[in-house]
Amino acid sequence: MYRDRIRLKSLWGKVVPAEEAAFLIKDGMTVGMSGFTRAGDAKAVPLALAERAASENLKITLMTGASLGNDVDRILTEAGVLARRLPFQADPVLRKAINRGEVMFVDQHLSETVELLRSRQMGPVDIAVIEACAITENGGIVPTTSIGNSATFAILAEKIIVELNLTQPLDLEGMHDVYIPTRRPFREPIPVVTAESRAGLPYIPIDPSRIAAIVVTRKQDSSASILPPDDETNAIAGHLIEFLGREVKQGRMSRSLAPLQAGIGTIANAVLHGLIDGPFHDLTMYSEVLQDSTFELFDAGKLTFASGSSITLSAGKYAEVLPKIGSYKGRLLLRPQEISNHPEVIRRLGVIGINTALECDIYGNVNSTHVNGTQMMNGIGGSGDFARNSHLAIFVTKSLAKGGAISSVVPMVSHVDHNEHDVDVLVTEVGLADLRGLAPRERAETIIRNCVHPSYRELAADYHRRALQRGGHTPHLLEEAFAWHTRFQQTGSMMPKPLAAE
Ligand code: COA
Repeated sequence: MYRDRIRLKSLWGKVVPAEEAAFLIKDGMTVGMSGFTRAGDAKAVPLALAERAASENLKITLMTGASLGNDVDRILTEAGVLARRLPFQADPVLRKAINRGEVMFVDQHLSETVELLRSRQMGPVDIAVIEACAITENGGIVPTTSIGNSATFAILAEKIIVELNLTQPLDLEGMHDVYIPTRRPFREPIPVVTAESRAGLPYIPIDPSRIAAIVVTRKQDSSASILPPDDETNAIAGHLIEFLGREVKQGRMSRSLAPLQAGIGTIANAVLHGLIDGPFHDLTMYSEVLQDSTFELFDAGKLTFASGSSITLSAGKYAEVLPKIGSYKGRLLLRPQEISNHPEVIRRLGVIGINTALECDIYGNVNSTHVNGTQMMNGIGGSGDFARNSHLAIFVTKSLAKGGAISSVVPMVSHVDHNEHDVDVLVTEVGLADLRGLAPRERAETIIRNCVHPSYRELAADYHRRALQRGGHTPHLLEEAFAWHTRFQQTGSMMPKPLAAE
């Protein structure tokens, strides 16, 4: 019974169908919706909005925590509703519209969006649409499988639509920690001093009179599309575990390591999964997305606490974990993404950040977002928040993409998301390059030797040798630096023809 979940009885009269709630959203508005990496997203109102767009001119700026599930981004794109989208997406149809220049995508560090809204450098937010599993006696909104930017969207928006999702377990209540930083310039330090620190409230505190509508839904989160570990991701995990083992041996950390962060996607998930067999124990996570590997580590007795902003699971894991989510209470906290990704906290905790590169270059610059320098993939997400501030900023990638037509290690990245100053360690299935304390010439040698696939190694070494003859602190042949990319565009492979024919 949905009324049991609306514990402030005066709100019972606000329950309306999704179509009616969607009418609160007008052409030109800025809408802040819940949703972070397919978890805890608004599921009914955006679809009603798309239907309206068939007969009416309706364009909005859509802000979320991160990517959405349930095909919401695809449906809104196809309906022509999205004028602007931020701060992250991962939908193939929206991605194409962005790359055609039809949707203005603002690719932001995930910790920064609400900071910009709060200081009125962006916005204002007209309407917030927030998925909840309950509304408390005082009108507080209890989020579901993610918090993302929901708290600040709800606090700042003129009106709030709550999507009360009856499939989301009530056991989620108590697993959120909603802390909102105080106003600048007299901001207090954020009171998160360990991954476990509880700093705020278990619900989003709002004035209930701003709740304009409540829509009851029963749709589940979409599952994550993570592929199972393969030989290459296992090799990447192996190199990383060996490296972390050396850090322990050299007395730089204990066998509990430091709080771990792992980015989205198959590779990062596989790397974390690999820690199950490692010699480490009593691990903690201070991450943004908690994927399958988090719960595998919990269940293997390796992980004692996980802090994140969302729970994003494959279909099988979702069916297994969600019904028993209560059993993880006391071991798991979901925070607003500005806290899970906050530079102050990441630096204080000394997080080990593990994120995925699309490509990196021989000097250690990393591109996480743009295929061939121009085509947006997903966005920078939280990778910059973590890379810049981590105790160890680690980037992983397979050394080859597209069946070997692309080398993921190139002379110069075609777009820079994480520059050489922020990257400590690079790992491919070939090996690991520890770049700490190395000058550019040393970094290039290490990366070429340890990370480049053997089929591209001599090409990279030849480029570097000839660049060295020109001199410079970071030697390059500028006229040739993107030759691998342009060759791929012209011939379908980064490999020069004669070599390819060998
Ligand atoms: N050039 C072109 N395409 C490349 C490439 C390169 N150098 N390297 C990989 N790809 C392609 C792959 O072929 C694959 O394409 P497909 O979907 O058509 O098969 C796709 O990119 C994904 O690569 P994959 O190797 O499967 O890695 P992934 O699923 O782990 O995703 C990123 C990798 C970089 C796209 C993803 O991690 C990302 O979006 N990162 C940025 C955001 C982020 O790091 N957030 C972290 C905090 S959540």
